[in-house]
Amino acid sequence: MNNTIDKTIEYIREKQTGEVTGHDWFHTKRVYEMALDLAEDQACDLLVVSLASLLHDIEDWKFNGGDETAGPKAAKAFMDSLGVDQDISDHVVQIIYDLSYKGTEKKASMKTIEGMIVQDADRLDALGAIGIARTFAFGATYGNEIFNPEIEPRIVIDASAYKDKSVKSTTVNHFYEKLFNLVSLMNTEKAKVIAKKRHDYMLDFIGVLLRESRASDSIHMALLDKFL
Ligand code: ADP
Ligand code: NI
Repeated sequence: MNNTIDKTIEYIREKQTGEVTGHDWFHTKRVYEMALDLAEDQACDLLVVSLASLLHDIEDWKFNGGDETAGPKAAKAFMDSLGVDQDISDHVVQIIYDLSYKGTEKKASMKTIEGMIVQDADRLDALGAIGIARTFAFGATYGNEIFNPEIEPRIVIDASAYKDKSVKSTTVNHFYEKLFNLVSLMNTEKAKVIAKKRHDYMLDFIGVLLRESRASDSIHMALLDKFL
């Protein structure tokens, strides 16, 4: 087991080092370590949790022409090359497939505790100080403005709208469109507690940003109440 995990760490660290849009090796490392923390409270398969958290961002549909099967396929090929048992690798592939968040209307769809743990760990990394940093880094790479008081957040957003690159939004709007919804989507009790702290910190941050932007009477400020 350890040999498999060590080889996976080595492979994914090499592959993701230097990535600048938020899917760098240190994102993966945080998700892996958080997943192991969350797993402490649960009866679960640690090999599945480890492999799924390490391989969850092996590819990214946002940069694969919207292909959501690119990640699962790459993960499968890698696990096959290590000779991972078929039932373990099938489970890991299913988790990676289910993991992509596709808008607020689709609720958590994880079928197993291992999937729930990895999903929580990945979502926690989109929250708090690190979540804020990743979001602005990603927004810049995506070509989005930081904040435009005239562009309103799209509060209910379905999968196709979320993926639609032609609809311009701003990085601040991403908090309303995705990040402020994550706190209510956590699966495990431990993750709920951590998420609430990180969520409150982000609400504070956006409140300060709006006040510094003299946008205290904006729709953005009014909408913050919805997420308290
Ligand atoms: P994950 O790594 O958790 O699977 P995503 O691939 O959805 O998450 O996104 C990676 C990071 O980029 C996250 O921190 C997320 O909030 C951020 N991000 C995703 N889409 C946008 C966007 N349209 N604008 C700004 N940040 C975004
Ligand atoms: Ni991730």
